[in-house]
Amino acid sequence: MADRLPDWRALNLASWEERTALHLGPRGYDLSTHRAGLGRLDAIVAAELGDVTGLRVLHLQSHLGDDSIAIAQRGAAEVVGVDFSPAAVAAATALAAECGVPQARFVLSDVAGAPAALPGLEGQFDLVFTSWGTIGWLPDLPGWARVIAHFLRPGGAFYFADAHPSALVFDDQAGADGEGRPGWFIPYFHRAPFLFDEPQDYADPEARLANSRTVQWLHGVADIVAALHGAGLRLDALREHPAVAWQMFRSLVPAGPGLWTWPDKAWLPLGLSFRATKPGPG
Ligand SMILES: C[S@@+](CC[C@H](N)C(=O)[O-])C[C@H]1O[C@@H](n2cnc3c(N)ncnc32)[C@H](O)[C@@H]1O
Repeated sequence: MADRLPDWRALNLASWEERTALHLGPRGYDLSTHRAGLGRLDAIVAAELGDVTGLRVLHLQSHLGDDSIAIAQRGAAEVVGVDFSPAAVAAATALAAECGVPQARFVLSDVAGAPAALPGLEGQFDLVFTSWGTIGWLPDLPGWARVIAHFLRPGGAFYFADAHPSALVFDDQAGADGEGRPGWFIPYFHRAPFLFDEPQDYADPEARLANSRTVQWLHGVADIVAALHGAGLRLDALREHPAVAWQMFRSLVPAGPGLWTWPDKAWLPLGLSFRATKPGPG
């Protein structure tokens, strides 16, 4: 049980504080399109998110705020980013100011604590958004879905894109087949938190993290769907993709804006995305 791992939050927070500084550095995130006024979204999110003009958007686990700012630059009326890392919230706040995007603001909070951190905003958002590298950091998926349902207005939508849980079974190292495919990492049905020690960073592979130990979770597809259902959200569209937004395995190759894919055949899905709705008048 997550609660019996006394330091999961402290370990993860220390890692994200360190990674945030890295991601702002020369080998970190490319924020040039945001600074130029039209923040890039990766090709999957860009194709699926739809028109955000005039929407009030809540972005959970907003990190540097790049996607939050891109959504604001695409016409959202308001974007509120939530992240538990003070360094990430400070970086996102500074980036929004630098980009001249006052519609985006950032709030320090755990996902689980967001209803208390954003009082008076229950049922106020048209869209809740989260993408790439999110639920694996969260111990309580039913609680996560309840937070999303809490903030959505009736008829509002939740958009999700992240690594496909089946891809998380594999390891970043080349397997023994000599063809550069990943080896095994963790069984798909492993539901306990797992301690992961990885000194490399996904955005800056040359870096060596001092805070390399993290605690993560593998939430399966059925768990995700059950959590949404339990929170009263209706799944409208679910898609599997042969691409993901970071170089999850060293053998992956670039696949268009912001994406990585298999070098040869699409062996298994790398990305999972969906849209869910809170029932009510649209
Ligand atoms: C991979 S990033 C988010 C994805 C974003 N699309 C990106 O690629 O930059 C993960 C973010 O989740 C945040 N995070 C991790 N655990 C959290 C929690 N329990 N509550 C809120 N934020 C959390 C981290 O601080 C980090 O900024």
